[in-house]
Amino acid sequence: MKNKKIVFSGIQPTSTPHLGNYLGALKNWVAMQDDYDCVYCVADLHAITVRQDPAKLRKQTAETYALLMAMGIDTEKSVLFTQGHNPRHAELAWVLSCYTPFGELSRMTQFKDKSEKHSENINAGLFTYPVLQAADILLYQADLVPVGADQKQHLELSRDAAARFNNAYGETFTLPEPYIPKTSAKIMSLSEPSKKMSKSDGNPNACIGVLDDRDAVIRKFRRAVTDSGAEVVYRENDADKAGINNLILIYSAVTGKTAAETEKEFAGGGYGEFKSATGEVVADMFKPVREEYARITADDAFLVSRMRDGAEKAVRVSEKTLKKVYKKVGFLGL
Ligand code: TRP
Repeated sequence: MKNKKIVFSGIQPTSTPHLGNYLGALKNWVAMQDDYDCVYCVADLHAITVRQDPAKLRKQTAETYALLMAMGIDTEKSVLFTQGHNPRHAELAWVLSCYTPFGELSRMTQFKDKSEKHSENINAGLFTYPVLQAADILLYQADLVPVGADQKQHLELSRDAAARFNNAYGETFTLPEPYIPKTSAKIMSLSEPSKKMSKSDGNPNACIGVLDDRDAVIRKFRRAVTDSGAEVVYRENDADKAGINNLILIYSAVTGKTAAETEKEFAGGGYGEFKSATGEVVADMFKPVREEYARITADDAFLVSRMRDGAEKAVRVSEKTLKKVYKKVGFLGL
């Protein structure tokens, strides 16, 4: 059997994924299952670096897991698990934190951003968060980590931690590399197309949730902000055209067409028709996800059995790595 490369990625269960998360990352997680051995994690440990309501966190963790399954993460083929179900993440994070210079963590831009945003709660976990992320990745000996631009610095830190440890103790960890998908669309807000699509946007029309019903999806696209023009034409880097550019990117990403093909299809059609068409294709794309999600969440026992199975697989793989590490740093075995 051919040895496939190992892919690891994680998602925080802090909100329902939206169209931007889907086209930018999650769709790719699904596709990568064909070519790689994939390990995907619902990162509940990461989520508590900012205050969470415990009942809500539990609910969202289960929902995120179910949603990943609904999108097409196959729990037979890949390892899909919840971070809190595998204590080895916290254990390796402790060891790695003792091998990560304070100065290196101080340079993390996300820490600086988040400590400004949550100035009332700048906790040590927020600071050591990248070490936990390194532990996630290194436990599974991942070769590739699909991440967005905001996580690249954290991935660098993981690589450095792995290299430093390997230097001190001999080959222990695979050095992970970032995986930037060939086609990863950066999706902007539908109401303020200069900003990234985000769930926390005040305007509910800005963001398409993966579980939004058909009418909501189409309504939001009809209301999408564009400009006073009428031609469906993609003009790269033209700020005035950010709205229509975004819609063209979405339509093209969903249908697998190039921007030029999309332009051709709607030549002479006007914005109104194009907005409706984009709403339709997005609603069609999410229809099976919504249906599958309803089916999975209707059966609690099924979901729990998938999670338990995922946790067992995750433990089995990561246990080997942690044992090696404990031995190398000098912990006494029993
Ligand atoms: N920190 C990532 C985020 O907020 C989620 C995450 C946790 C992750 N562990 C990871 C991503 C390991 C890649 C690899 O988006």
